[in-house]
Amino acid sequence: MNQLDDLVTAVRASSKYKYVCEDYVRNLGAQELARRANLKEAVKATKNKLHQVAGAYLDSTTRYAEWLQQLRAVQPGDMSALRPVCARIMSHHASTRERLASLDSFYAQTLARLAPVHSVLDVACGFNPLAIPWMPLAPGATYYAFDIYEDLMAFLHEFINLCQLHGDAQASNVLQPVALPQRVQLAVVLKAIPCLEQVDKSAGKNLLEHLDADHLLVSFPARSLGGRSKGMLNNYEARFMELISGHNWQVERFEFASELAFFITK
Ligand SMILES: C[S@@+](CC[C@H](N)C(=O)[O-])C[C@H]1O[C@@H](n2cnc3c(N)ncnc32)[C@H](O)[C@@H]1O
Repeated sequence: MNQLDDLVTAVRASSKYKYVCEDYVRNLGAQELARRANLKEAVKATKNKLHQVAGAYLDSTTRYAEWLQQLRAVQPGDMSALRPVCARIMSHHASTRERLASLDSFYAQTLARLAPVHSVLDVACGFNPLAIPWMPLAPGATYYAFDIYEDLMAFLHEFINLCQLHGDAQASNVLQPVALPQRVQLAVVLKAIPCLEQVDKSAGKNLLEHLDADHLLVSFPARSLGGRSKGMLNNYEARFMELISGHNWQVERFEFASELAFFITK
């Protein structure tokens, strides 16, 4: 085994990161090995980075099998009965937990001009597919979701089926080009760009330019995980303007308590 294999094994031996897809740990690990003095430091730096971009948002206790049972107890396709169960589960990921208070208006407002939506790609989705019961989707719509956790994606795959939608949830690193079987009507990139840009500065630009979608719903957090706003709104709005500069895209802006969202028509 070489050093990179040792690093991947060491990182995935920890309960917090054992389900992070291997190729992503390998990519991050290779970067850290090139920068650090030895394997031990590179393992520590890789875990720190994983914490910053993903682990910090996710509760330490995830009970996917139990949650699936609770979701399956609801009459198939009954979206209003699914809502309270989904809201409880979404409270276990900081990003969706912050959105819960605005969920009744979030998708109704941002997707009003597109409803009913026929196909969605949810990039670095976290627990957001559990908000499907609030989304104005067409019956039998297609929903693709990507994040780096294998166990979360297996759970969301079952949930997408339970909602009687087509599509898939796959453990995948979205810093690599996202391959889809078809072009989608809408890609959602919620509060993900600041995380992704911590690893790759051009991630936001690449996603906005290359995602195979007619429309994009992009958002940025209005406050940090610690709860302070620190002028974040202005900074992220400026960053977004930079990302779309030079493109003749139509943009609508929406401000919610926990995030600033932009609906883009390409
Ligand atoms: C701030 S959370 C946003 C989650 C979700 N989009 C939402 O708004 O509720 C960032 C998410 O990005 C995921 N993530 C970080 N790096 C990623 C990568 N390279 N590829 C795919 N997902 C990634 C994390 O696991 C985490 O779920």
